[in-house]
Amino acid sequence: MKRGVTPGTFDPITFGHLDVITRAAQLMDEVIVAVAASAGKRPIFTLEERTALAREATAHLPNVRVESFEGLLVDFAREQNAQVIIKGLRAITDFEYEFQMAALNYQLAGELETVFIMSPPQYMYLSSSIVRELASLKSPVDQFVPAHVARALAQKFA
Ligand code: PNS
Repeated sequence: MKRGVTPGTFDPITFGHLDVITRAAQLMDEVIVAVAASAGKRPIFTLEERTALAREATAHLPNVRVESFEGLLVDFAREQNAQVIIKGLRAITDFEYEFQMAALNYQLAGELETVFIMSPPQYMYLSSSIVRELASLKSPVDQFVPAHVARALAQKFA
């Protein structure tokens, strides 16, 4: 069974993430959305909230499950018996950082393959941080995130 992990902080999950997850689910037998604790990034949503939001957003995808993890991504991927790490790549600005992470993960666990899925043009500019900023300024975010995420953001910034 080909099992892939799509990792991220998902603070919160966006349509850009969902596009990558949906396309990964078409390539793999099973996809695990791995919600990282990412404490250093000081997320606005707790790990439990981010996991619950991602779970609801992917509930319609039968071969996708959502798990949270702390520690190294490669350790989590090994625990889950995954063979592939799947990441979205937006503009060229993502490349340096993603290249560094892929190289490091290869060094740590050479049996894990990192695969990139290119974002389609409509999501090239989309990021969780932009969505958080818009929501904090009370701008509608419905075109960027699912309705339940928009509601959670509105509550967070109420
Ligand atoms: O959505 P993000 O914040 O860009 O995702 C980054 C993430 C969570 C994939 C990355 O920080 C990560 O893999 N964190 C787990 C800790 C780890 O394995 N670090 C070593 C690789 S840099």
